[in-house]
Amino acid sequence: MKDHQPTGEAARLPRHIAVVMDGNGRWAEQRRMPRTAGHRAGVKAARTLIESCGRRGVHALTLFAFSSENWRRPKQEVSTLLDLMLRTLRKEASKLHENNVRIRVIGDRDRLGGTLCHQIERVEALTADNTGLQLVVAVSYGGRWDITRACQRLASRVADGSLDAEDIDEGMLNDGVALAGLPGPDLLIRTGGECRLSNFLLWQLAYAELYFTDVLWPDFTEAHLDRALTWFAGRERRFGGVPAMLDGTAGRA
Ligand code: FPP
Repeated sequence: MKDHQPTGEAARLPRHIAVVMDGNGRWAEQRRMPRTAGHRAGVKAARTLIESCGRRGVHALTLFAFSSENWRRPKQEVSTLLDLMLRTLRKEASKLHENNVRIRVIGDRDRLGGTLCHQIERVEALTADNTGLQLVVAVSYGGRWDITRACQRLASRVADGSLDAEDIDEGMLNDGVALAGLPGPDLLIRTGGECRLSNFLLWQLAYAELYFTDVLWPDFTEAHLDRALTWFAGRERRFGGVPAMLDGTAGRA
């Protein structure tokens, strides 16, 4: 993650938005539909959000599509969710590519099937040079998994003698966790009424503004995004400093 913070007008639009898309199941239950119908409606809401962020010039958008903990759901729901992911990537890839969107997937791929992994690799390669919206989809992702993996990599460098333990710093962790190379999220949006992080981007969200809304994810529209952006624009971001320090030098991880 890069450290520099923009100031003035540029600071009013988040460069990077992270979203916990919660409430699909309840949305479906309210309509006496199967939970999977809620997830399908959730994909539509995700598409709208991606288009809206692209239009507004947001640099990066990270969506929490499937968590490490979601493996505990009924087998049927897990396979429907992963199948939905596969079909969505297949269906949307070329349109996203035409719109200059770069797609990356973060998470533990060892647990995903070969077909989904292959599709992820294909879409990542197709869009690798795109310079528009940087879209990150978190699949089989957990913040603790992410930090643990980064630590393991550093530990193995210490073990083989190529790194001194004393030289490990925050920058190395930044470079080792998922989203390396992107600015950390400035704004986290969580729908569905819960006020928690649920193991999402634990390292990367250290200084994010946290926006919680009761709206269920499939109901989240462009107007709801604008409400969140207006709220964000009114926040004073100090990064642990004081207002006078808001010259781009106040630090964060
Ligand atoms: C949480 O709602 C939502 C999920 C676990 C899945 C979210 C995934 C999508 C919307 C698909 C997105 C896919 C792509 C490729 C972007 P929940 O089921 O926990 O709802 P509940 O809290 O009401 O039960």
